[in-house]
Amino acid sequence: MREFSESYLSRTREGMWDDSRRALEPLALGSRDRILDVGCGTGELSRVLTADSPGEVIGCDVDRDLLSAASQYVPVVAGDAFRLPFPDDSFDLVVCQALLINLPEPAAALSEFARVSSDLVAAIEPDNAAVEIDSSVDAEGRLERRARRAYLDGVHTDVALGADARSAFEAADLDVLTTRRYDHVRTVEPPYSETAVVAARRKATGAGLADDRETMLSGALTETEYDDLRGSWRKMGRTVIEQMETQEYHRKEAVPFFVTVGQIAQSG
Ligand SMILES: C[S@@+](CC[C@H](N)C(=O)[O-])C[C@H]1O[C@@H](n2cnc3c(N)ncnc32)[C@H](O)[C@@H]1O
Repeated sequence: MREFSESYLSRTREGMWDDSRRALEPLALGSRDRILDVGCGTGELSRVLTADSPGEVIGCDVDRDLLSAASQYVPVVAGDAFRLPFPDDSFDLVVCQALLINLPEPAAALSEFARVSSDLVAAIEPDNAAVEIDSSVDAEGRLERRARRAYLDGVHTDVALGADARSAFEAADLDVLTTRRYDHVRTVEPPYSETAVVAARRKATGAGLADDRETMLSGALTETEYDDLRGSWRKMGRTVIEQMETQEYHRKEAVPFFVTVGQIAQSG
């Protein structure tokens, strides 16, 4: 199982859902009694759910360190998405965000969500193969695409699942009611936040890339190709820092997320 750090999750979720909650409308949060957020991590989605719903929200994750961060927003319970520690029909909405793309058998997890839900099951999943970057540093978009391709090649789960979660829902005996798209856009521009400065430093030292080295090497990338990529990456990072010093640097990243909502299939 891939592990996620608290800083990675707060960096990549920064501002998510602050600009628009339209894609969450089919969850009918205003009329929910009990919601379970599976794979809640640091509680970035739980925080939104609890703000928009009068019902009780519970966060659940296998990682106890992340759960302790989520516990500042909602009550939490340690548990595995494939064997949720709750009786049948305990919630009227079971939802996850960026969980299924990390699981070997997403449909099996959705079946377990359906067991503990009396009404809706929803998945908010990205299409990580369709991320778009626009940067004032020419090489940045090209190198990020190269690194992303190498990373995705080494990941053995469906990282583009967001764009088409229907078959996983149907395999779990869930009727898909609707799918909505939400583009999570993160912009870096002057004045630069502390997060943006740290991210630029991690580019210049190659630290960000090094976190994904093992995954990249388990795909098609060779050690020599990784070293070559790392050299270009660090050079690009130094240019980012130079442009920040003269307030010229700007960057826009758009990650498409898809909110798929399903209901337990009616037999007969
Ligand atoms: C990419 S993070 C997403 C966290 C959070 N939902 C968010 O959007 O910020 C994936 C999360 O799924 C959790 N996870 C992975 N496998 C799991 C499993 N089998 N059962 C429960 N949680 C799991 C990880 O610990 C991690 O917190």
